[in-house]
Amino acid sequence: MSGNGSIVAGCLAPHPPHLVYAENPPQNEPRAECGWEPLRWGYERLRAQLDQLDFDVLVVHSPHWQTYIGTHLLGVPDFKSLSVDPVFPNLFRFQYELSVDVELAEAIHDEGRDAGLVMKMMRNPDFRVDYGTIVSCHMSRPAWDKPIVGISSCRATSYYSVEVMQEQATELGRATLRAIEATGRKAVLLSSNSLSHRHFTTEAPVPEDMSREHIYHHGQYLWDMRMIELIRAGRSRELIDVMPEFIEQTVSEADAGSLAWLMGAMDFPDYGGELFGYGTVIGTGNAVVGWFPQRDGVAAGGGAS
Ligand SMILES: [Fe+2]
Repeated sequence: MSGNGSIVAGCLAPHPPHLVYAENPPQNEPRAECGWEPLRWGYERLRAQLDQLDFDVLVVHSPHWQTYIGTHLLGVPDFKSLSVDPVFPNLFRFQYELSVDVELAEAIHDEGRDAGLVMKMMRNPDFRVDYGTIVSCHMSRPAWDKPIVGISSCRATSYYSVEVMQEQATELGRATLRAIEATGRKAVLLSSNSLSHRHFTTEAPVPEDMSREHIYHHGQYLWDMRMIELIRAGRSRELIDVMPEFIEQTVSEADAGSLAWLMGAMDFPDYGGELFGYGTVIGTGNAVVGWFPQRDGVAAGGGAS
């Protein structure tokens, strides 16, 4: 396959393990009564949209695969193991089995390297895939019937600054797009992160007790609403411009670069992202959003028809 590839959807797909816990899939050992329905219904609506699209692969950028020297990509065709959330082992003990589009991962690696980024293929067959990648992929596509490409977060925010992170992440996004186009893939991209990320430090006796769930504080909510407003209005460059302030004020998980990567890959969409749901998980703000560049009425650049 060569040429003619495209991004058919880009998604903000946050990864609180609570959402998988509340869905009670057979792969997860703990059982829940209910919980976080507004977000889970949001994912349901996103899945219905993805079901209408023809695509080959999910490409996910995760804050919880943290690599301190460059960006790494999963480079083994199949992974199978048990994923246990280190903070919430009571909620997430998930038997995963997934396949990787190694050819696309290698193409992203090469494009990133040629653009001056530090890139590495992860070839350890015993590697344990991070729970951020697993939760975002499961909630977006619980059938696990598409291969994935897993991309790490190189933590440039910690080493340098949000601004440096954003430059690197948007460059990585552009490299991702070039690789998708060159390999002829139809790809769905997942930015696996919450918005505001201040959270409670104690858990209710029943984790899914929704009488205990709410935003951490009003300032976090105001920031989330501001970001969602920019997303829905298609003001993605402004979204990137205010991100340093947003990350500082809300300790946002966008510091990992997932959202900046997505905006770079989608060439800073000037059409609105569709909001499928917003909700809090232990006080953090989470939005499920989809951008659909090939929808009627969207004047897309790149390889869209
Ligand atoms: Fe997280």
